[in-house]
Amino acid sequence: MSIEQLEIIAQQMVAPGKGIIAIDESNNTIKKRFDGVGVPNTEENRRAYREMLLTTPGLSDHISGAILYDETIRQSTKAGVPFTKLMLDAGILPGIKVDKGPFPLAGYPGELVTEGLDGLRDRLAEYARLGAKFAKWRAVITIADDAPSGTCIEANCHALARYAALCQEAGIVPMVEPEVLMDGAHDIDVCYEVTEATLRSLFSSLYEHNVLLEGTILKASMVIAGKDSPDQADTDEVAEATVRCLRASVPASLPGIVFLSGGQSDEAATAHLNAMNQIGPHPWPLSFSYGRAMQQAALKLWAQDMAKNFADAQKTVAQRARENGLAALGQWKKGA
Ligand code: 13P
Repeated sequence: MSIEQLEIIAQQMVAPGKGIIAIDESNNTIKKRFDGVGVPNTEENRRAYREMLLTTPGLSDHISGAILYDETIRQSTKAGVPFTKLMLDAGILPGIKVDKGPFPLAGYPGELVTEGLDGLRDRLAEYARLGAKFAKWRAVITIADDAPSGTCIEANCHALARYAALCQEAGIVPMVEPEVLMDGAHDIDVCYEVTEATLRSLFSSLYEHNVLLEGTILKASMVIAGKDSPDQADTDEVAEATVRCLRASVPASLPGIVFLSGGQSDEAATAHLNAMNQIGPHPWPLSFSYGRAMQQAALKLWAQDMAKNFADAQKTVAQRARENGLAALGQWKKGA
């Protein structure tokens, strides 16, 4: 694939008013989500649930792509249509999570480094054959008294850069995701400092590894107070701090930035994105790549009665896509 094609795909991912739905939960993570609503974590339930999400009528109105898990990219609808074909026919780009998850960083108790580089070149070649147009790698940065260390940030950013270079070699757009966790009692200023240090390290590593920024998408966490902080920032503060941090650390040549929801409520995730887009223009489109904030309402409904609530669960997905699509344009209104 040519450089121009990588750029075109990256731009399609952040087309105006569109964002990504992240449905790439590993089998362990989806078990946690299913346990929460009493659904047995079987392969068929995982397939049926992802079919419900991906066949939502009108999904492509506000969704440009969906991130799949290794099992999911090989699955089909009950009628036998491969999910990737269904998506490509609907104009939704198939994405694939390729990291193997975060593991304890030896020598740095409490900190994590994402693994999955071994064999990645061959796995990417197979995913490209299966129809993947973009990939995702998530690094996890923890805030605590003595964390994050510079070593943890550097190790994760080095892995992100090696992953991104391999993706581009395979003709796949890398989505690079350094998630600064919301866990903890830190205030928004601490989150700002850690996020800025992480993003500076990330773009330095991407540069050193000859990654083409024009064919890369950043998946960022918002600059926000820790979940247990007594000092919660309001919507405008989160929007202002996040935009300021991104402007200080992300090159303007990047085609787009999408956010993870990271445990925020559905409404907060949408309101924050909307507020950021209302204080634009910015050098890049700011959109969404939400997992929980796109799915949690639909999962609850579907779990109550998979057959009876199928259409209503899909309506909920469509509604969340519409609201977040409006927020990506700064045009969302609460209750609209
Ligand atoms: P959340 O929006 O639920 O944080 O998930 C997004 C994601 O893909 C994290 O890697």
